[in-house]
Amino acid sequence: MPIVVSQNAQLITLNTDHTTYQLRLDPRGFVQHLYYGSRVEGADFSYLWQHRDRAFSGIPQEAGDDRTISFDTMPLEYPGLGCGDYREPCLEVRNADGSSSVDLRYEDYRIYPGKPRLAGLPAVFAEENQAETLELTLRDRVSGIRAVLLYSVLPSEDVITRSVRIENDGTDTVSLERVLSCCLDFQQPGDRDLITFQGRHAGERTMERTHLSHGSFRIGSTRGATSHHYNNGVILCDRTATETAGDCWAMLFVYSGNFLAEAEVDQVLQTRMVMGIHPRNFCWKLEPGNSFQAPEVILTYSEHGLESITHNFHSVINNHIIRGKYAHQQRPILLNSWEAAYFDYDDQKLLEIAKEAAELGTDLFVLDDGWFGQRDSDTTSLGDWNVNEQKIRCGLPRLCKEINALGLKFGIWIEPEMISEESELYRKHPDWVLAIPGRNPISSRCQYVLDMSRQDVVDYLFDVFSGLLESCNIEYVKWDMNRQLSDIWSCRLLAERQGEVFHRYVLGVYDLMNRLTAAFPDVLLENCSGGGGRFDAGMLYYSPQIWTSDNTDPVERLSIQYGTAFLYPSSCMSAHVSASPNHQTHRTTSMKTRGIVAKTGSFGYELDPGKLTVAEKEEIRSQIQDYRHNWELYSFGTYYRLLPNPVDSRESAWMQVSQDQKKAVVSYVVKNVTANAPTRYLRLRGLRADTVYEISGWNFRASGAVLMNGGLPMPELYGDYPAVSFLLTAKED
Ligand code: DGJ
Repeated sequence: MPIVVSQNAQLITLNTDHTTYQLRLDPRGFVQHLYYGSRVEGADFSYLWQHRDRAFSGIPQEAGDDRTISFDTMPLEYPGLGCGDYREPCLEVRNADGSSSVDLRYEDYRIYPGKPRLAGLPAVFAEENQAETLELTLRDRVSGIRAVLLYSVLPSEDVITRSVRIENDGTDTVSLERVLSCCLDFQQPGDRDLITFQGRHAGERTMERTHLSHGSFRIGSTRGATSHHYNNGVILCDRTATETAGDCWAMLFVYSGNFLAEAEVDQVLQTRMVMGIHPRNFCWKLEPGNSFQAPEVILTYSEHGLESITHNFHSVINNHIIRGKYAHQQRPILLNSWEAAYFDYDDQKLLEIAKEAAELGTDLFVLDDGWFGQRDSDTTSLGDWNVNEQKIRCGLPRLCKEINALGLKFGIWIEPEMISEESELYRKHPDWVLAIPGRNPISSRCQYVLDMSRQDVVDYLFDVFSGLLESCNIEYVKWDMNRQLSDIWSCRLLAERQGEVFHRYVLGVYDLMNRLTAAFPDVLLENCSGGGGRFDAGMLYYSPQIWTSDNTDPVERLSIQYGTAFLYPSSCMSAHVSASPNHQTHRTTSMKTRGIVAKTGSFGYELDPGKLTVAEKEEIRSQIQDYRHNWELYSFGTYYRLLPNPVDSRESAWMQVSQDQKKAVVSYVVKNVTANAPTRYLRLRGLRADTVYEISGWNFRASGAVLMNGGLPMPELYGDYPAVSFLLTAKED
């Protein structure tokens, strides 16, 4: 059984195939964290709690004269504020008497097969035989506040999920001022780094490794969405950890709103790592008898370095987050109209582009922004989701039919959460906007945000977009979000409940996505937020793929995709070949380089095929043929980084290996060519040692053992940003 309770019920051990997590129920009610590391059978790690008199550390009454027992240095599963633990708490409350202490002590536990759903929230899903769950209840005896800690163990994924439900079992309303979802305390001092993924618009998820020393290192978002600026996945690792060696612990938040991720090194070099909803502007009024469910964190550990962390996250996302028809399917190869035409088109132009897209062999034509209201620029019409008949004179159903007649599926762009001041919807419902009475709301990209915490707004949007999807054969939707939240206030909530708006907004978005994906299960939903501003596991629960970045330059994409693929699988990382010179950087690159980089994700095009030369079109046809033939490898192959972060390097290389290890693709790009360069040997990964592989374009065969140890020499490459890729195929005897 994955969850084992020791005889005297003092130790609870959670085992995955390769990891062990252990906690201790101290007779005084403390719930202590003991161990999270490699799997150890039948162990008792309680000796690891080396409590010493640390001075200036408060002693709980139950400890009597024993000055070695203090919350200040005790490794805890779920720390509260105000009882002598001065490190970052998970739970912070404002009690009815104005005090803020919450002293959580063990009350009860239960264990059951499977994994519960979390009401209104995305979460890892699992069958009864794939997971086991521990519910551990802690209670504050004075206020009656309970924290029900949920641990679900997915042994074969080497993953444990954690979340918490706060219940008010008292007689007074309590304000929850901070409810984080997960805490990991490390009692043993260590020399550790925190790996985060930072960025900006058009430069998302660049991997950054920071050495931890005394104090806190925190990242987060207070923008109402995950953001381009920091992703909500982090990895704590040994300072010496590499791709294939060293202890690594990682947390990935299954949530799409504000978040906090923090690692704190204390006075005696203990480390505390926490993750949850960002406490800024969060305050949830919890009435007696009510509960609050915090979102889920996916935890994983490996002693074998960063590569295994990546594999664990990719697997759990592909198998236990992404749902629906397209979860394990080939995604349509699409052509998106955005960089082909921006706002400047009519139905004839769209059909010309679509005709060319069909001739190139794509599967799906996506009509991006500009098709509705009076939308000829980004200054108007969000909210008016009726077709602009000056541009699309034939109407959407007819356009869709004609595109289908070309042999293409039809997809459409929407931005449901937003409203332009210049729109019919705004004139009718100005109160639907997030805005504070007496203040002018902040505008961004000339748009405001709808109050998604309101049920009537969500219901209205459901009706509007259901109508759109019923109006013709739409088989793909790109859901965009082109600004982040400000002016956090909802006219539907009392003053003391305004601290709930941020989270209720996210719940409203999830509700709408849930209802639309349930009503239209055959539609492929792709998320987007000005590129990758809401690239998180929460969104992946509703949409199998996300537009990775508005930056389509293949050279810039190297570091964006390198960072993204640390946490998220290729299947969900949309990547398109765009025009050269590139529209964001004006850099000129070859079609070959653009193709090799884009094929690492859910593949497509973002250009006007009418502007291509005959030779370029021919090259695109062969890219499409290759992707179609090898889609399982490109989308679901096991992903290996072969060279370090391309931000600091003149080259980048990665490979993807099929599940049966019979096929692999190796991709190599040189960012900065030099004369008489040393030969680059790539030591390959993930092959079968004793299988002989043929290598495309080479008159050479070698065993996996040879290629993984001796390495594969890369050819000399010249010119600007050259790239090469090799397909390895197991030779059948
Ligand atoms: C931002 C997206 O990332 C782009 O791909 C495009 O859809 C624009 N919005 C349209 O406004």
